[in-house]
Amino acid sequence: MTYRMILNETSYFGAGSISHLIDEVKKRHFKKALIVTDKDLIKFKIATKVTDLLDKFGLNYDVFDEVIPNPTIGIVKNGVERFKKSKADYLIAIGGGSPQDTAKAIGIIINNPQHADVRSLEGAVNTQKATVPIIAIPTTAGTAAEVTINYVITDEQNKRKFVCVDPHDIPVVAIVDSEMMASMPASLKAATGIDALTHAIEGFITKGAWELSDMMHLKAIEIISRALRESVKGDPKGVEDMALGQYIAGMGFSNVGLGLVHGMAHPLGAFYNIPHGVANAVLLPYIMEFNAESTGDKYRDIAKAMGLKDILNQPIQEVRKYVVEAVKQLNKDVGIPAKLRDIGVQEQDIPELAQAAFADVCTSSNPREVNVKDIEMLYHHVY
Ligand SMILES: NC(=O)c1ccc[n+]([C@@H]2O[C@H](COP(=O)([O-])OP(=O)(O)OC[C@H]3O[C@@H](n4cnc5c(N)ncnc54)[C@H](O)[C@@H]3O)[C@@H](O)[C@H]2O)c1
Ligand SMILES: [Fe+2]
Repeated sequence: MTYRMILNETSYFGAGSISHLIDEVKKRHFKKALIVTDKDLIKFKIATKVTDLLDKFGLNYDVFDEVIPNPTIGIVKNGVERFKKSKADYLIAIGGGSPQDTAKAIGIIINNPQHADVRSLEGAVNTQKATVPIIAIPTTAGTAAEVTINYVITDEQNKRKFVCVDPHDIPVVAIVDSEMMASMPASLKAATGIDALTHAIEGFITKGAWELSDMMHLKAIEIISRALRESVKGDPKGVEDMALGQYIAGMGFSNVGLGLVHGMAHPLGAFYNIPHGVANAVLLPYIMEFNAESTGDKYRDIAKAMGLKDILNQPIQEVRKYVVEAVKQLNKDVGIPAKLRDIGVQEQDIPELAQAAFADVCTSSNPREVNVKDIEMLYHHVY
């Protein structure tokens, strides 16, 4: 058996680590950046922390700020045109998963123009060339898109979200500065934080998990379980810990895959534009319950990582129930709604949602085999 591990070339962590940007740009002899971000991050003066720094050191850039949550094929195409016009030679992605993923798609298409249609990038595609170099600066603590080899684009015409898996898209540098994340409202911290917990739990029980990825996922579960409530309350140490915890989860899941929570969450983003983290968070405990019987003793390891000491010596069935309840409690404590009906899902769409979830690339990595009927049943159960 052989395994593969792909990570950033260089990554920086900690409050204030954004200061390393300038050295990285100079050292790599980059001449002009296209900054990929969204309008709110400009308005709330988060992306401007980076442009102020570039201005101070006289470094050249253009800004593409058209990204919206659940970014679409149309936005990627506009970004590609913008990159060509700007004559940039690298990308700086500033934002949550949406700007990060858009930057990856732009960078891949610039160097692999045969994929200009965007749709042909779905799944595991053998692109010929690496993306235009990307420096990734996350502003949410959740997706870890700065360290993953995945990006997720919404096909607005066909109402579907598709996952692209391509080692060529990984950012060369990631700057994980919690000061870029501190401005998140509590609800965004909660949603993106549970997205990160979902990555860690799905990555730990996914079919392709192995010892090195287990190490990362268990550490991520430990940090996130300890830090998320504090982060949501506004504690800077909690935010800094979440920044690290979500990154560690990304190091793991990017290399081994996810599972049915993500498979079922993606159609909710495509159909109703539900934020990715919220969709995952609502589904997570129920899908954990469904998967439990296919995970051996792993929920005991999860319990340990979550700090649930009292339950560790109980029979595994008891441990599994306890862990699921602990995840429900965490959701409740950070203000995540309990049911799909609370977040705008329409019951009559469930057969169509189930078809889309079954076809999602993440579903095939789930530890328990599922069919379309199982997924329909699960959507009804969480509804
Ligand atoms: N590439 C991957 O591996 C990967 C993994 C998981 C999810 N995703 C994708 O990432 C997207 C979700 O990304 P996300 O959850 O990070 O959110 P997002 O990028 O969609 O941003 C959501 C909102 O939060 C705002 N925001 C971001 N940072 C902020 C800050 N510091 N302060 C105030 N507001 C801020 C944005 O302006 C935006 O309005 C989905 O499309 C999802 O499918 C990708
Ligand atoms: Fe996710």
